Amino acid sequence: MGSRREVALSNVEIFGPAMQENPYPFYQELRESNPVCWDKSLKAWVVTRYEDVAKVLHDSRFSANRIDAATEQIKSPRYRPLLDVMSRKMSEKDEPDHMRLRSLINKAFAHVALERSEPLVRNRANDLLDTFRTANGGEFINHYAVPLPLLIILQLVGVPTPDTQKVKNWCDDFAFIALNYYTHLPEEKLEKGLKSVQEFRDFLKQRIAELEAQPEDNLLSALIAAEHEGQRLSVDEMLANTFLLLTAGNETTTCLLGNGLAALLEHPDQMQRLRHNPELIPQAVEEFLRFNSPVQYLGRIAKEDLELHSQPIKKGDLVLPVIASANRDPEKFTDPDTMDIDRTDNHHLAFGHGRHFCPGSHLARLEAVVSFEVLFQQSTEIRLDSVLLTDLEYRENFTLRCLKKLPLQIDFC
Ligand code: HEM
Repeated sequence: MGSRREVALSNVEIFGPAMQENPYPFYQELRESNPVCWDKSLKAWVVTRYEDVAKVLHDSRFSANRIDAATEQIKSPRYRPLLDVMSRKMSEKDEPDHMRLRSLINKAFAHVALERSEPLVRNRANDLLDTFRTANGGEFINHYAVPLPLLIILQLVGVPTPDTQKVKNWCDDFAFIALNYYTHLPEEKLEKGLKSVQEFRDFLKQRIAELEAQPEDNLLSALIAAEHEGQRLSVDEMLANTFLLLTAGNETTTCLLGNGLAALLEHPDQMQRLRHNPELIPQAVEEFLRFNSPVQYLGRIAKEDLELHSQPIKKGDLVLPVIASANRDPEKFTDPDTMDIDRTDNHHLAFGHGRHFCPGSHLARLEAVVSFEVLFQQSTEIRLDSVLLTDLEYRENFTLRCLKKLPLQIDFC
């Protein structure tokens, strides 16, 4: 095998500040000139073509267990409880452990039938949008796209309403660590994460006891009852995977709603077409997911020495399949940089691929479809308020592509 070919990208630091604004030209350059490249600062292989990304996600020689790649800082005895919780999430597991956890969680999910969630989502969506009426608009991200998925998942999981704010705070602290544990983190963030995990464990133990005594119709009760080959989840597995369910679907769906609406504001003709043809909304949501994917890249570890696109990947190397780049690969999609709600053959990778494919995709799609239906039902026109499309800013986060703010003027019916 040869030696590593590093990024030679017109002096641009990959995942550096210049990429924040618009990563897609960088992905294009990488796909064309260096589709599997080693990035020195990330100490990782960056994989950008559709075929290679799908291969990495499908190939069992790549492990989803990234715990060993965590920094020494977080591996220190003080933060061990944080790492312990992370290592019990199904998203960090390979087979057969992954399948055991996933089938237990799938059983619980099947219990919270999606058809029954639809009215809940629609009511919440209508209520949230009603709060925009008096001012004929408002800021969409923080007042609609953030609370909607959060309120839904908290209710589905079975967090009592008075506890929602504190559970949200614990989840935010934990999610920050869970997304960034292989980079150096400020001690105060780690301390906060640690405290939150401890408090959430106490809360959950008490809640489990309540639900064991008196089961309710929610995910937590279903998780307590779920069995796979005679086995149930331990308290720590329940803790880790409840955290995962509460966090994995929130910001991601927030990004989808914001990116989708921004794409429509940028393409008013397509907004009009959708407004008058709501049956196209599910297909449009798929296009939003492809065009500006909420999750930009995933992480895997090579379990053995192997070659990808003639690049020598060593056992233990971190590999980042960039799904957002795969979704713009011209080898897979016609005119990939064009947002087209009429696109039908849309096998995007926005929810991942293979064994870890997102189990919340149905819920996320439901939340997005209902949101756009409600937006169009309640309004006659939606415009940006006092900002230009070119002024919209994304959060400082390379994993998730999410707008900071989307101020709207809405003409209500
Ligand atoms: C637009 C919204 C969403 C996007 C873009 C998204 C994206 C993803 C992706 C790309 C993965 C694969 C991770 C990997 O292979 O390493 C994933 C996994 C996962 N997602 Fe989602 N997701 C969304 C919504 C949700 C929702 C609503 C939930 C739960 C209620 C959820 C729960 C999960 C869980 C538990 C996993 C781990 C599955 C496993 O490891 O087997 N997601 N998601």
